[in-house]
Amino acid sequence: MIYADYNGSAPVCEEVRQYLMARLENQGPYSNPNAIHALAQKCNGAMEKARRECAKVLGAKPGQLVFNSGATEGLSHVFYHLLTDGVKDQKKLIIISGIEHSAVVNLACHYAEKGFEKVILQTLPNGQVDHKHLDTILGERANQVAMVCVMAANNETGVIQPYKEMSASCQKHNVPFVCDTTQYIGKTAFSFAESGADFAFMSGHKIGAMPGTGILLVKDPTDLKPLVIGGGQERGRRGGTQNYIGNETLAVALDAFAKNYEKLEQLRARRDAFEARIKEKFPKLVVLGGDAPRLASTSFISLPGVHGQAVQIELESQGIYVTTSSACSDNEPVTSKVLRAMAVSDDVGRGAVRISLGMCSDAQWYDQVGDALIKAYEKLSKIRAY
Ligand SMILES: Cc1ncc(COP(=O)(O)O)c(C=O)c1O
Repeated sequence: MIYADYNGSAPVCEEVRQYLMARLENQGPYSNPNAIHALAQKCNGAMEKARRECAKVLGAKPGQLVFNSGATEGLSHVFYHLLTDGVKDQKKLIIISGIEHSAVVNLACHYAEKGFEKVILQTLPNGQVDHKHLDTILGERANQVAMVCVMAANNETGVIQPYKEMSASCQKHNVPFVCDTTQYIGKTAFSFAESGADFAFMSGHKIGAMPGTGILLVKDPTDLKPLVIGGGQERGRRGGTQNYIGNETLAVALDAFAKNYEKLEQLRARRDAFEARIKEKFPKLVVLGGDAPRLASTSFISLPGVHGQAVQIELESQGIYVTTSSACSDNEPVTSKVLRAMAVSDDVGRGAVRISLGMCSDAQWYDQVGDALIKAYEKLSKIRAY
């Protein structure tokens, strides 16, 4: 079995598995980390150590980290923090890109219903958000902008976005820059301080830590409004007893990432060789986002005329788990919004298949995925699907 859907969710990595086994076998300490007795202090100490370790890998100060349940919660929290008082001082624009995750898109729609105006940045055909479009809008309407939210790397294509440039533009105009780093962190080096972003996000399950964990990074957390009020945990920024064991696994996974960084370059070399091999066999193969800087471990490919879902099923019958981008409506596979934003035609869009690995996967898996994919394409291209 080969699991190649790390961008969807990564398996718990070996370091985290070993940490957890030892942690559970030692039978504790278990306690509410916010209590005052000795066991609680032990739990709290371990959690605060985890916070410091995470902060170090993420290029942030420990006080800038809010432990939460993951990126969706973090994004909801930040939109709430920035927009909850309604349209103020003419600041009514929410700027997002056309390739954002549905968590961001739906939040923007939610606040648009409350009187904000949603503005969508254009995307270039290579998969990068058009930074110049942002500059134009800021040049004309910066005093009306409540927030800008753009991702650091796209979940479908793996294309790395000009987030530092956008962050600098926002800083220049004094506009909050919210950077969705969910796919970026744990797949390439990230420094919150160097990003210039006001807010950044991560989900534990994307990097091999426990699902249901996450971190919200806040440049200036002093006035952050809590979304979950609760009992004042996380210095009043996120109520509710912390998932302290889960939070410890975030530090373990981030530490493993920092120590195995060179493995990413091995993955990149194998990924590039894998794509070149398929392309040699099927010259019409399209590597979506292939002309832009990309995460090392994401391939988004399409062989026009062959349905992505048919490829997915073929690969699954060979024990390989990949994903397509096409949402199915009335059994009609459609081109994803990310690919539409890149002006990808439907014959390419319908064929898209995503193969995503991560730090804890074996780079040699690309050979097996390549064999299976060639077999699937040979079989399916005889049956022209559309
Ligand atoms: C870019 C991006 N942002 C946000 C999310 C939401 O993450 P989660 O479902 O872990 O909250 C995802 C999940 O796939 C994502 O890829």
